[in-house]
Amino acid sequence: MNITITQSEAEFDTLAAWRVIAAILNKPKVVIGLSTGQTTAHMHRIISEIYSRHPFDTSGVTLFGVDEITRVSREYAGSCYSMLRNQLVDALQLSEAQFLMPSPFSDDFEKECRAYEDELEKRGGIDLQVLGLGTNGHLGFNQPGTPFGSRTWISKMDPALESRVRRETNSSPDKEMGGFTLGITNIMQARKILLVCKGPHKAEIVRKMLLDPVTEDIPASVLQLHPDCEFLLDTAAAKYIN
Ligand code: GLP
Repeated sequence: MNITITQSEAEFDTLAAWRVIAAILNKPKVVIGLSTGQTTAHMHRIISEIYSRHPFDTSGVTLFGVDEITRVSREYAGSCYSMLRNQLVDALQLSEAQFLMPSPFSDDFEKECRAYEDELEKRGGIDLQVLGLGTNGHLGFNQPGTPFGSRTWISKMDPALESRVRRETNSSPDKEMGGFTLGITNIMQARKILLVCKGPHKAEIVRKMLLDPVTEDIPASVLQLHPDCEFLLDTAAAKYIN
């Protein structure tokens, strides 16, 4: 397995940022999947800073989000759409067509899911998928127990995240939220995967992901089977695998 362990958080963020920039420099029409959360926020900002100082060609790039919360407006600052736009997409001066995100509202989510993966396919498929890791081993919004054969779908929201979003958006309890997410099959079809994970609170799940048998109970364990996945960790997250 391809495991990189950085000595500091700064090194972690910078290295992750350069992995994405390298993918853009290597392939003008690259398709890159991004992930939101605390792990990736700073690396997105570093990419933006590097671009502002030394602009590179982004005219053929497609960026997309691996997941999104449904039935919450994109205007909400905690939506994956807003986070990616604010941290990275605007800074890279991408056009509307170059930034794909799942639609949070639909009368037919099944159709939206198929359309989302079809669009990625039309653009040549995923060249690089960046993934964060949940403390329960989730990938995107694929929670423990998700079949490895899953394709883009709406998962049941993690209750802790759902109650935080409800609090922050004042949404009524009868408005059921969901997790629009690429399925495990879509993720595994990416040509290259960069799993990013830092901090001591992730050390135990990192151990399970890398050293325990591959199981649907730990969705991220499936990455052991991917032919080109780099696991980028800081020393705290790598505590039990050294
Ligand atoms: C959310 C996202 C996931 C992401 C995870 C990591 O659950 N839906 O795609 O991997 O957060 O979050 P953090 O980096 O804040 O630990």
